[in-house]
Amino acid sequence: MELPRLETERLIIRAPCEGDLQAMPGVFHDPDIYAYTRNIPYPYGPQEAVNALARYTRLAAGGDAFTFFPELKSDGALIGLVVLAMSKDRKSAELGYAIGRQWWGNGYATEASGAMLKHGFESLGLHVINAHAMLRNPASSNVLRKLEMHSAGVICDACEKDGEHFDAEGFTMSCEQWESAKRSAAE
Ligand SMILES: CC(C)(COP(=O)(O)OP(=O)(O)OC[C@H]1O[C@@H](n2cnc3c(N)ncnc32)[C@H](O)[C@@H]1OP(=O)(O)O)[C@@H](O)C(=O)NCCC(=O)NCCS
Repeated sequence: MELPRLETERLIIRAPCEGDLQAMPGVFHDPDIYAYTRNIPYPYGPQEAVNALARYTRLAAGGDAFTFFPELKSDGALIGLVVLAMSKDRKSAELGYAIGRQWWGNGYATEASGAMLKHGFESLGLHVINAHAMLRNPASSNVLRKLEMHSAGVICDACEKDGEHFDAEGFTMSCEQWESAKRSAAE
């Protein structure tokens, strides 16, 4: 499936492409990004970028996961990724995101993830979008709270990294909750 080009106030959110290969290591080569995400390797060099691009393209073609790259409108810089990993029945998805360290703390993860919720509910017709943030990653929980996703409580051992298991807070939003949040924002 071809990914649309989404737009927010400060970002263009679009399909990854070969033109990103050079910038990708500079954004994703980070032990903290590795520690808090499932599929981003560390170290992250040119070969990892090639592998990731092939993977994103394959998963999108199969309708299994849609990875988008947000870039800044101001200077065109690639700043990270946002992804919707689809469930088998394609009715729900898991939201994921990572932003390059130099751009942390500017609200970009929230802005790009908000565009993913909109795309998921309004274009893909999803019923539910879920997300998990490790308890040791409060910045990520904050992103999900700012998106008005609903906490589903702590899930023990929800995330595994290098053989270690970590507790995570689960978050969820239904399409009805999305519509209602949109109505409240418009009032
Ligand atoms: C988590 C991550 C995506 C946040 O990106 P970001 O663009 O900085 O996020 P935002 O600016 O939209 O929001 C982050 C919020 O967390 C807050 N925050 C940042 N560090 C924090 C910390 N250590 N403790 C508590 N809150 C923190 C920020 O202040 C901000 O909240 P505010 O707007 O109320 O001030 C980014 O740090 C990252 O890529 N980390 C590594 C990968 C990762 O964790 N991915 C998520 C996996 S679930």
